[in-house]
Amino acid sequence: MAVQGRRYLTLQIIAVAFAVLYGGVVSSYVRPPPRKTLFLRNSDDDSSSPQQVHISLVGEDKMRISWITDDSSSPATVNYGTSPGVYDNSADGNTTSYRYLLFKSGDIHDVVIGPLKPNSVYYYICGPNSAQEFSFKTPPAQFPINFAVVGDLGQTGWTNSTLQHIAQSNYDVLLLPGDLSYADYIQPQWDSFGRLVEPLASQRPWMVTQGNHEIEKLPLIHTTPFTSYNARWRMPFEESGSDSNLYYSFNVAGVHIVMLGSYTGFEQNSVQYKWLEADLKKIDRGITPWIVVLIHAPWYNSNTAHQGEYESVSMKEAMEELLYKARVDVVFAGHVHAYERFTRVYNGKADNCGPVHITVGDGGNREGLASTYINPKPEISMFREASFGHGQLEVVNATHAEWKWQRNDNDKPYASDSIWLKSLSSDPACKLP
Ligand SMILES: [Fe+2]
Repeated sequence: MAVQGRRYLTLQIIAVAFAVLYGGVVSSYVRPPPRKTLFLRNSDDDSSSPQQVHISLVGEDKMRISWITDDSSSPATVNYGTSPGVYDNSADGNTTSYRYLLFKSGDIHDVVIGPLKPNSVYYYICGPNSAQEFSFKTPPAQFPINFAVVGDLGQTGWTNSTLQHIAQSNYDVLLLPGDLSYADYIQPQWDSFGRLVEPLASQRPWMVTQGNHEIEKLPLIHTTPFTSYNARWRMPFEESGSDSNLYYSFNVAGVHIVMLGSYTGFEQNSVQYKWLEADLKKIDRGITPWIVVLIHAPWYNSNTAHQGEYESVSMKEAMEELLYKARVDVVFAGHVHAYERFTRVYNGKADNCGPVHITVGDGGNREGLASTYINPKPEISMFREASFGHGQLEVVNATHAEWKWQRNDNDKPYASDSIWLKSLSSDPACKLP
């Protein structure tokens, strides 16, 4: 027994030494377990009432308003104005729906309104006779601008906690690097997700790209990918010359944001690659000194989850040089249910002219956290923590931005990581010949 006891003690000492050496600081924070999936029913009996309202940017000064009604006779009309209850303007749009196996969606309406003034509050109703007024604030036309960034959101108690923290922040635009509802083929769960995010997504533009949970392809019986995602979360792809809702770009304040699709063709002969190449060439750093890219499957990752996946390894191989030569400042990813920030990096090595890669796949989904990391920690990984949470990128001016990540910490926000970034366009050492 004495020998066994000594052996156990020795093993414990080795384990603690390992944790200190390779895990950084030993924290007393206890990782929370996942929480149950929520299901939000439609609270309004009136089938023509708008539900699942969300908004997204279209060009420099327009907004797309999207909502769903159970009633198929409701017109796609938005009345809007700058004072509550006074709607001087009106716009009409389109109504679509989709089928998925035996499920038929409600009527999905989308209406583009504008031109709108920057940094201004607008009041609107969805449908000409709707009694429910919504409001949103347009983003600023110039710095500073504040982005909320969260991936792999899902719809659990942890998602609720994350959404509450985002709601308390003063953000202008939300960026989501894929995996939205975790409906996973159960289509009413997409409706539930729409209801869950409406209080936030009807007030600020939510700009999203897709993850693997959006594919929802079934062999033989439903072979079209992204059916629900494309129908419910239409993004402004035509405006950036893209032919697909799965990848697009837009400018807001002085930031050029590129949303890429990790689960559609990205190889060098693909349409997406050619589009990205052309899009990056068009950027005028005098107008947008910052470039931010969103993908789903991270190109840099020292978590044991999702190692070596085709979408990570091959997309990085195909596209990393394009981003490097364009001097992209930051790449946000999701997929791994944890937080990790890398240094500026290119081709696997620290590089002062490469993007900072950040994984924020920690929104609160039902699958829980990815808590195991590869040790020893790679030198290029600067901070990693398996907790639910979200990040905020405040771009202060053409040269400086602050990135902060906060974990939920038993429902209270806790600032865990932060760093100041300097734009690569302002760094003479990163000028291309
Ligand atoms: Fe994912």
